Amino acid sequence: MNPDKEYFNNRKTVRNYRKCHISDELLDSILERAMRAPTCGNMQLYSVIVTRDTENLKKLAQEHFNQPASTGADVILTICADFNRFTQWCEASGAKPGYNNFHSFMMALTDAVIYAQQIVTIAEMEGLGTCYLGTVNYNAKQISDLLELPDLVVPVASLSLGYPTNTDEEQCERLPLEAIKHDETYRHDSKEDIMTLFKAKDDFEVNKQFVEENKKDSLAQVFTDIRYPESVNLEVSKSFLSLLKEKGFIQMP
Ligand SMILES: Cc1cc2nc3c(=O)[nH]c(=O)nc-3n(C[C@H](O)[C@H](O)[C@H](O)COP(=O)(O)O)c2cc1C
Repeated sequence: MNPDKEYFNNRKTVRNYRKCHISDELLDSILERAMRAPTCGNMQLYSVIVTRDTENLKKLAQEHFNQPASTGADVILTICADFNRFTQWCEASGAKPGYNNFHSFMMALTDAVIYAQQIVTIAEMEGLGTCYLGTVNYNAKQISDLLELPDLVVPVASLSLGYPTNTDEEQCERLPLEAIKHDETYRHDSKEDIMTLFKAKDDFEVNKQFVEENKKDSLAQVFTDIRYPESVNLEVSKSFLSLLKEKGFIQMP
């Protein structure tokens, strides 16, 4: 099989890492190659904070609720939406920047996330394991303080990296292509169609176990009641909006 096809067909998140150091050379090479990712107006509106010092890793892992992928990582990368550097360049060049607004945050967010995924792809192709830490959103303010982020810099993606132990679970399921592909206009699915599209998820053995362990009636309830409940979503929304305000990306009353 074409090696690229093999990589994309087999890729999966890796949360358990060997006690094996990723060399600075390899890490820098990954971060540099990832910079070839597309970027809005070629402005490169992102920064990456590399955490590999043991004490700093411990502090950062705490902000990720000490989830195993964070405590066992050789490196944690915090990828930030960054309009600070570009704004400074404009000011130093006699240009008037206008990037302290939500649209500019959206541009920087998109750039940062694309950069993060490019890091994932290259790192995995180099034989490393990676895991996004969505907890970056939950404790964005604390992480921002810990990493001493200035105005117009906000953490938007965290990645743990390490050499895999190969003890991770099997590859997990995906929706069928027809669930996400719409021809020409959006297809409006019936309730029955939706249930059919989600059948592979509902029937996936690991997911059935989640439902049982959590004493729920359906997998959807595991998401709505336990993994991503409305109360937490609202709380995280509030704190993240407040961070955007603090960092100068939005003006709120
Ligand atoms: C934005 C985002 C946040 C994520 N957060 C976490 C996380 O906090 N902890 C974790 O173990 N995995 C996390 N993941 C990994 C997903 O759980 C994983 O990608 C998904 O279950 C599909 O599995 P796969 O990547 O192995 O195909 C996250 C992934 C993304 C894209």
